[in-house]
Amino acid sequence: MTTSSLDAPDQPASGAPRQPLTISVTGCGYLGAVHAASMAALGHRVIGIDVDAGKIDSLRRGEPPFFEPGLAELLADNAATGRLTFTTDASAATEASVHFICVGTPQKRGENAADLRFVDAAVAGLLPYLKAGDLVVGKSTVPVGTAQRLAALVAEAEPRATLVWNPEFLREGKAVQDTLQPDRLVYGMPGDAAAARAAEGVLNAVYHQAIKAETPVVVTDYATAELVKVAANSFLATKISFINAMAELCEAAGADVTQLADAIGYDKRIGRQFLNAGLGFGGGCLPKDIRAFMARAGELGVDQALTFLKEVDAINMRRRVRMVDLAREELGGSIVGRRIAILGAAFKPDSDDIRDSPALNVAAQMSLQGAQVLVTDPRAIGNATEKWPDLKFVETVEEAAYGAELVLLLTEWAEYLALDPVALKQTVASARIIDGRNALDAKAWRAAGWTYRALGRR
Ligand code: UDX
Repeated sequence: MTTSSLDAPDQPASGAPRQPLTISVTGCGYLGAVHAASMAALGHRVIGIDVDAGKIDSLRRGEPPFFEPGLAELLADNAATGRLTFTTDASAATEASVHFICVGTPQKRGENAADLRFVDAAVAGLLPYLKAGDLVVGKSTVPVGTAQRLAALVAEAEPRATLVWNPEFLREGKAVQDTLQPDRLVYGMPGDAAAARAAEGVLNAVYHQAIKAETPVVVTDYATAELVKVAANSFLATKISFINAMAELCEAAGADVTQLADAIGYDKRIGRQFLNAGLGFGGGCLPKDIRAFMARAGELGVDQALTFLKEVDAINMRRRVRMVDLAREELGGSIVGRRIAILGAAFKPDSDDIRDSPALNVAAQMSLQGAQVLVTDPRAIGNATEKWPDLKFVETVEEAAYGAELVLLLTEWAEYLALDPVALKQTVASARIIDGRNALDAKAWRAAGWTYRALGRR
């Protein structure tokens, strides 16, 4: 297929694309809102579409519906140019020739598999508006085989449109940077060579800045592109659980997991990134992606290939229980009625996302077991209060720590790492801290008179 709108627009020597595209982005959550704003920043005209009217209203006002560093600035800059608009009306996609699918694929209730309801609905919502030469670009994380199935639906609705799979690797907290300067681009292409060639040209025009910066591009088939995403997340999850398994050993043997991580990380084949031992991984991606991957492997008859991910998941979940046990140990055998301050509710710093947050899991376990828990977080209290109405949240570290017998650092926000242990000692009832992220300066806290403990250290 070589229609005019799928012909690759030539790239100018610098700056904006010579031929800006009109792009629709369906799904304006953590992925889609950042993607829409970033595509506008690249010079394209972008229409963000979402069924959630509240989210769309907020984006129209230039207010991100969630916290993501740099997003508010991008929204403001690009709304001013008129290049970036938001709507709940799916028919607005008619104006676009490239259609990104950025909706979530959460874990199914009571099952490991991914729930594809939102992807299916997003594609179904787009089909009536597809024109000859349009490109539908899947970015959501989906079980292998999904793109092939969706391509058939696209072909049935508009045989001259093409579907490609172009997974997203952005990290929350660094989403803008990861979208504008990705480590790599992956294009999962249809079998038809002419359609694939044309689609590659359009994707290169969409990502003209990254292409100019010589970002590696892996052009492959649907199945490989779908698998790249879940394989990458599985590898990252495995790396974290590996170091957390070492933390269990370090605790048993009286060794120090942070030094161990430094020492093995100097080996270039291993690398130090994602070897931070502690409370383990959470969020809307790694936990559900490894589970969905196992479920899909089972359907494909190769469940044994991914049995190790069950162990990765188990090691990760054990860290949360270990944290509660360590707190109990620190408090002399019981947490019932004890005042505990929890620093952090988001699943990671620089995000207000609380999906599968290890910090809130620990807070909830302790609260259920009778402790008096006060949780604070710089950005996530709104989301956390909505989801966990039975937990008590306060705005500041001082409020959380006032009269506490134990402080737990569970999300390593920069402001928590900058706390003054001498000053905080005046607020608490007992100067005891457990560093759930191995992120504090142990020496400084001990020097200030605190009992400092951490997961995986002496
Ligand atoms: C992840 C992938 O990194 C990203 O490429 C993919 O697109 C989506 O999933 P994200 O979930 O935003 O991104 O955050 P990430 O930085 O990967 O952290 C995931 C979890 O692992 C967090 O809970 C973090 O605290 C934890 N983590 C990370 C560790 O416990 N130790 C580490 O060394 C690194």
